[in-house]
Amino acid sequence: MDVRRVLLVGSGGREHALAMALTQDSRVELHTAPGNPATGRLGTNHPVGAGDVKGLIALTEDLDAHLVVVGPEAPLCDGLADALGDRLCFGPVAAHAALEGSKSFAKEAMDAAGVPTAEHVIVRRAGVLGDALDRFADHPWVIKQDGLAGGKGVLVSDNREQAEAFALSAIATSGSVVIEAFLPGEEASMLVLMDGSGYRCLPASQDHKRVGEGDEGPNTGGMGAYCPAPVVTPDVQAKVESRIVAPMHAHLSAQEVPYRGVLYVGLMIDEHGDPYVVEFNVRFGDPECQVTMPLLGEHALDWFTAVAQDRLSEVQHPIGDSALLTVVLASEGYPSSAVTGRAISGLDLDTVATAEHGRAWVNLAGVKEDADGTPISSGGRVLSVTGMGGSLQEAADLAYACLAGLGLDGAHHRRDIGARAGVQHPALN
Ligand code: AMP
Ligand code: GLY
Repeated sequence: MDVRRVLLVGSGGREHALAMALTQDSRVELHTAPGNPATGRLGTNHPVGAGDVKGLIALTEDLDAHLVVVGPEAPLCDGLADALGDRLCFGPVAAHAALEGSKSFAKEAMDAAGVPTAEHVIVRRAGVLGDALDRFADHPWVIKQDGLAGGKGVLVSDNREQAEAFALSAIATSGSVVIEAFLPGEEASMLVLMDGSGYRCLPASQDHKRVGEGDEGPNTGGMGAYCPAPVVTPDVQAKVESRIVAPMHAHLSAQEVPYRGVLYVGLMIDEHGDPYVVEFNVRFGDPECQVTMPLLGEHALDWFTAVAQDRLSEVQHPIGDSALLTVVLASEGYPSSAVTGRAISGLDLDTVATAEHGRAWVNLAGVKEDADGTPISSGGRVLSVTGMGGSLQEAADLAYACLAGLGLDGAHHRRDIGARAGVQHPALN
């Protein structure tokens, strides 16, 4: 058999989901940097940080890896794909990764491609901030820091003092701030495989960004997700492709190096079913990845390799149509200050790592293993539990039943994942 050595970069729930998807293909010999206890059982973990571009290049050479699959955005923004040269990489070069790394660059690209997004101004001097705030005073202010901010770079607020303070601090740290019109509507995430030859939209999903039920409380990295998202009807899907994905693909393909990876299109869909871009990311979403990768069946390696080679348009594998729903279990105190270092009960790491995409399974995120093999919480988002079935309701029931078997002192999760899509939650009644 023709072994394919894959280096996967990252260590979270997204990367565990990618590791599970890749190893469905029996040709894959998986290596992960730095990985987590589940990726270490699916392959070999290497003690190289996801932000250590030099270390990752050296590891790729040592392994003579056939393909590098990059989970998080930071190494892409720092030029990992560029530095890999002729090595196959699933993940774009830095010139494209700036779509996520710089909000103002993303806005300029959307303008150049003629893609619908919120009207905006870029403010570089504190002296003109007041005028910009006046311009958007009819609705809550939406203020975006202009660099990577780990999910903390956006403020949506109707408190002018708070908006002003956030904008001033953003100008001080990153030199500029984007102030944009508030878009009403419902959000959805579209993950689009893209290379110079074409693009392929994966079924749309919906994240739950706020920490609390009913979308209350502070923003998080994501507390749960489901796929497909019924808000993206066939009509909305057609508009997203013709107004957003096709023009962005044409724009990106006209650059020196085509975009090769996944373009995460964060959408706002208004009451008329018209889509607008809220943000681009240059990686899979976490936890959107957990509810989308299983739909690739055993073909993730083929899809990712083709993207790295500009052969996406030749790939004809079917994409599954199951419904998936994932619930994130977070540490006490997350997102402000997570308490870690606690034992997780009901979790057997060997069982987790050998799980198939069956009915329900666990993806590890912030989990470490102590000397006697006990799983210990080590991050804000600890793990996610995903269910897969014929309907979102079935997927939800499976995920919540699986989660009920796990224990972590002080942990919290949302009991309403999927509510917007009509999922019923007995635990809330
Ligand atoms: P971003 O990092 O750009 O995705 O923004 C984080 C979150 O802020 C989004 O998921 C939305 O919930 C919200 N948001 C961002 N931009 C807007 C906008 N123009 N109108 C309404 N909400 C927004
Ligand atoms: N779940 C949102 C993100 O990955 O950016």
